[in-house]
Amino acid sequence: MITAIRGMKDILPPETRRWQAVEQTAREVFALYGYQEIRLPLLERTELFARSIGQETDIVAKEMYTFLDRRGESVTLRPEATAQVVRAVLENRLLHGAGVKKYYTLGPMFRYERPQKGRYRQFHQINCEALGSDAPELDAEVILLLLELLQRLGLGQVRLLLNSLGCPACQQEFRARLALYLRQQTGWCHDCQRRRDTNPLRVLDCKSQHCRELLAGAPVMLDFLCPACKQHYSRVKALLAAQTLEEAPRLVRGLDYYTRTTFEVVATSLGAQDAVAGGGRYNGLVKELGGPDLPGLGFAIGQERLMELLPNKETKSSPLVFLVALGTQPRERAFRLLQQLRQAGLASDMDFEERSLKAQMSLAHRRGAALVVIMGERELETDEVILRDMTTSRQQTIPTDCLLPRLAEQLAGCQSNSFGNTAIIGGVTG
Ligand code: HAM
Repeated sequence: MITAIRGMKDILPPETRRWQAVEQTAREVFALYGYQEIRLPLLERTELFARSIGQETDIVAKEMYTFLDRRGESVTLRPEATAQVVRAVLENRLLHGAGVKKYYTLGPMFRYERPQKGRYRQFHQINCEALGSDAPELDAEVILLLLELLQRLGLGQVRLLLNSLGCPACQQEFRARLALYLRQQTGWCHDCQRRRDTNPLRVLDCKSQHCRELLAGAPVMLDFLCPACKQHYSRVKALLAAQTLEEAPRLVRGLDYYTRTTFEVVATSLGAQDAVAGGGRYNGLVKELGGPDLPGLGFAIGQERLMELLPNKETKSSPLVFLVALGTQPRERAFRLLQQLRQAGLASDMDFEERSLKAQMSLAHRRGAALVVIMGERELETDEVILRDMTTSRQQTIPTDCLLPRLAEQLAGCQSNSFGNTAIIGGVTG
């Protein structure tokens, strides 16, 4: 048997129904805030991610699915979407005109990490990007959008962590001071010994417990913010004053493009992989990727982690009508009827095997049918069908002509359940 690749999960029904409901809510909230959907390829030139995320990050250094295509070009399965949103808006000239450009995108990302609960090699993100303004109002709006979405989804116990990573100017002094501190301490892990010289900020993101302990006395970025960055950060906090947020001066993100506001939403119930969403500003990224000097910010929610946190509510689907037919001609009639019901907007199905009435009824039951329509040779002759209400077990024989309005009437009163109530239309006698 060929199995799925390690760290890559199948998402199966009825779970897919929950995913659809979450994505629908996300689409609604994005629309409220003026975001448009953008759909992007899964494969990009490797250079796009190397240049934007940063050579020294774990993602670029160890986790990308990179290979040469048949013409020898290095391509990479996207590990994140921000860089490619920027690539796409530049390439398609979507930045022209006034106003903030707002895009969202949903879909799979790929990182060759060690799989564990909440960490996969293919995972899904709900991604939000706003380009064109450095106003603190936009930072606050993006964070409020995230919180609103999580709240609508019924997410309870989460914490919002906030920090500012400053601009390149104020990062310069911080970097020098941090590098000094890192040199003064001994015992850093192998990676951090290298990062000390190449990109000291990345040491702050090290997952090793020992390095984390060594970092306890390290300088914090907030103490090095230039007046403009300090002012920006204060404004963002003031605009979010009504929200419960925690300042997290040691919060750095695993990608190099961040400037100023950075944030994460964490949930302790998730265990070690506790970040359900993360994001921030990337004011230098558009320019870095060959565009104008335009600021931007955004976030991504990890959908697998989100699903883990959501209350396991049953999602509703349309009640189902199931057709039961006995005999070749009744089956043909049921098949035509099936199409008519679907055209009329009624979710309906039938058994495609020539099985007994009992077997077909049992399938109808297993499918959660609300109504069953039964037809056999006798009903064919009289141009009637038997309509059975699966909740009350009441049955009545009705002319075929009256079936559609009767179904609509009965289904209107039906409570749909999580898998859909199936109304069964079929032929019994035969
Ligand atoms: P990130 O923090 O790398 O940010 O990922 C965002 C979220 O994706 C994480 O908080 C987590 O929930 C989820 N995630 C990341 N890696 C995995 C994994 N291996 N398995 C399962 N879930 C995972 C970004 O990707 C940025 N592009 C976010 C952003 C958008 N910043 C600005 N705009």
